[in-house]
Amino acid sequence: MFHHIEFDKAYSGPNPPAKEPERQYYFIGKCRKLLEKEQERLGRPLTFHVTTFGCQMNARDSEKLAGILEQIGYEEASEEEADFVIYNTCTVRENANLKVYGHLGRLKHEKKSRPNMKIALCGCMMQEPEVVKKLKKSYGFVDLIFGTHNIFKLAELLAEVLENKGQFVDVWEGTEEIVEKLPADRKYAFKSGVNIMFGCNNFCSYCIVPYVRGRERSRDPREILREMEELAADGVVEVMLLGQNVNSYGKNLPEPTNFAWLLRKAEEIEGIRRIRFMTSHPKDLSEELIQVMKESKKICRHLHLPLQSGSTRILEKMNRRYTKEQYLELAERIRSEIPGISLTTDIIVGFPGETEEDFEDTMDVVRKVRYDNAYTFIYSRRTGTPAASMDNQVAKEEVQARFFRLIPEVQRIAREQAAGLEGTVQEVLAEEINEHIPGCLTGRMSNNLLVHFPGDPSRIGKLFPVRLEECRGFYYMGKAVSQDDCG
Ligand code: SAH
Ligand code: SF4
Ligand code: F3S
Repeated sequence: MFHHIEFDKAYSGPNPPAKEPERQYYFIGKCRKLLEKEQERLGRPLTFHVTTFGCQMNARDSEKLAGILEQIGYEEASEEEADFVIYNTCTVRENANLKVYGHLGRLKHEKKSRPNMKIALCGCMMQEPEVVKKLKKSYGFVDLIFGTHNIFKLAELLAEVLENKGQFVDVWEGTEEIVEKLPADRKYAFKSGVNIMFGCNNFCSYCIVPYVRGRERSRDPREILREMEELAADGVVEVMLLGQNVNSYGKNLPEPTNFAWLLRKAEEIEGIRRIRFMTSHPKDLSEELIQVMKESKKICRHLHLPLQSGSTRILEKMNRRYTKEQYLELAERIRSEIPGISLTTDIIVGFPGETEEDFEDTMDVVRKVRYDNAYTFIYSRRTGTPAASMDNQVAKEEVQARFFRLIPEVQRIAREQAAGLEGTVQEVLAEEINEHIPGCLTGRMSNNLLVHFPGDPSRIGKLFPVRLEECRGFYYMGKAVSQDDCG
């Protein structure tokens, strides 16, 4: 889609265009020139590495960063060797945040032995003023700091770093802008994330995401469908539609539309064989969506439906805007309308004020819904969120004890749920070579379960009928019943 020549031509004259994405094309061209000089001086190609922390949204952002850097002329390398290292950070829980500081210590050391290397930090953590203050004060070896709203500007920021010395900081508080038509480099040839919206308006009281990702903005459906068509033409068979709350897609567009409509349009795209999406907020999940999923041949039999807590009292304090009963009713409805669907969830233990009774409500929902998988988190206090200043924070030991009661229950149920498919033949997308079992590939079923089966690496990216021979806890061992694509 992009040719280097276009960028070389775009870099003309001393004044960059004001309009995007043309402005970034100009800077990609400019960085190409700067890099060529440096490569000549060193007599070798220059390399980059993007390290991603956090969620799928960040992973997709990292692909965009990599796409821009490749157009500039960088080659990908390991973090230990790269001339330009970017950390795309996450701050959803304190642990995520601490992990980044841990890695930074290592990088500081690395830079001492390779003073020419450049280091950039971006992503959600950079949207916290306290973090940037700390980095400015004590992490002078970081060359570039930018945020979530201006990642599209990487080429422009890099030009600054390549031409000038010192730490360069550019973090925006928010934006209305969605810049389209910039390169991205996919991690997988056959599957890709597709952003359908950015930001979040829900303000769940524990969550920092609305503060670091800004207000909800939906992408123009024409741009989304165009991107999917291009991906399909490029060999992508599975897309994951990404947003913090996909069920409210389209509400704020000049011509309002909805997520169910978008899914119907996506379904029409030839070449796309599987559609996934993430994340659904239970309060906005429409009956229309259930029907679209039910009728669809392409939408995967998997729904991630974050519960957070099973206690209506806690849900209210979390500002989730549904009750225990409403959630149970919704889950029940989805299971009965779409047989075989896999339901997964997120659960937080130890939200301020959580009592033993509240926690038992969470256990009760877990047992009633029988999740196929659940991501369990210990509540983490995030500065600036309403929950952080609630006064009845739960004692650490108590939270830990509850957490370790929840995990085995979740796992027991997930195991039982997984076991039901033994002996059946399922459509499996071969995703990668299995590193542990020689001659085996690892694939994924529509319901998101993994299957390991003998197969040739040339089959990666294709869909096969696979007989599930043995369930081993959370995954299956299987055999392809045909080497032909299921299409
Ligand atoms: N937009 C998605 C999820 C975003 S964050 C949604 O609404 O479901 C992913 C998960 O991290 C959340 O579902 C929640 O379970 C967890 N999480 C968010 N903030 C947290 C916090 N302060 N402490 C512990 N877990 C948190
Ligand atoms: Fe956070 Fe709630 Fe928005 Fe999800 S919906 S990102 S949990 S505020
Ligand atoms: Fe983390 Fe930002 Fe995602 S805080 S979970 S990377 S939106």
